[in-house]
Amino acid sequence: MSARKRTVVLISGRGSNMTALIAAASNPDYPAEIVGVISDRANAAGLGVAAARGIATKVISRADYSSKEAHDGAIDAALVSFGAEIVALAGYMRILGARFVEKWLGRMINIHPALLPAFKGLDTHARAIRAGIRIHGCTVHFVTLDMDDGPIIAQAAVPVMVGDNEDMLAARVLKAEHRLYPLALGLVAEGKARMEGGRTVLAHFADDADNSTSVIMAPDPLREETDLEQLARITP
Ligand code: GRF
Repeated sequence: MSARKRTVVLISGRGSNMTALIAAASNPDYPAEIVGVISDRANAAGLGVAAARGIATKVISRADYSSKEAHDGAIDAALVSFGAEIVALAGYMRILGARFVEKWLGRMINIHPALLPAFKGLDTHARAIRAGIRIHGCTVHFVTLDMDDGPIIAQAAVPVMVGDNEDMLAARVLKAEHRLYPLALGLVAEGKARMEGGRTVLAHFADDADNSTSVIMAPDPLREETDLEQLARITP
C-alpha cells in the first residue's frame, strides 16, 4: 500500500466524529493516519479523547491572535508542522478565511449534519423537523469559499420517524456520521474521490472485487435501525 495520508482533524467541541476517524485510522490498512488534532477552544472535550489515544493535540485560540487572518495563519503553520496532507473539519465552529481555504482547496473536507444542499448552516435537525421532511442525513464535502457549499463526496440518509424530536433525530444522524466520515476520508486519502474543476470526481472502483463500496447510503423506510452497508449503492 502507498503511504498513508497524514491527516489533521480540526475540532471545537465534543469530537465524536474525530473519534470515529481516529478509530478507523487505528487500522493500519486504512489509507489515512491521524497525525494531529487542533482545537480553537481549550475546553473542547475532544482534546482529551485524542490525547488518550496518543494523538498530538494543539490549542490555537482566536483570542490569542489580533485578527482572523493571523489566527488562520497560526492554524496553517501548525498544519505544516504536522506535515498535514489532508485537513478534516469535524465540528470546527469557525469560518476559515479565503486565503486558508484556497491553500487547502481539494485537500480539506468537512462533515455537515444534513443532506446538502438542504439545510446549510446551524440547527439543521430542528429545521428538518419543522420542514416535515421524511429523509434527513449527513454529507461530507470538500471545503470551498462558501459555507457548506463545496463538492459533495458522500452522503448518508436516515429516516425522520414520527414523533422524533431534535435530539432523537440528531442522535440518529450522528450514528450515520460516524460511519460516513471514515468512509469519505478513506476515499479522499486513496485518491478515489478528488476535487476537479469545482466538482468531485469519483473513481470507478473497477479494482474492487466487491462493488459494494458505497458513497451513498440509503435508509430503510420501515425500520429505525437501518443496515446502511447492506443498502449501500455505488454511484455511477
Ligand atoms: C456534527 O454533527 C457535525 O456534523 C457538525 O458538528 C457536529 C460535531 O460533532 N459539523 P462532534 O464534535 O464530531 O461530536
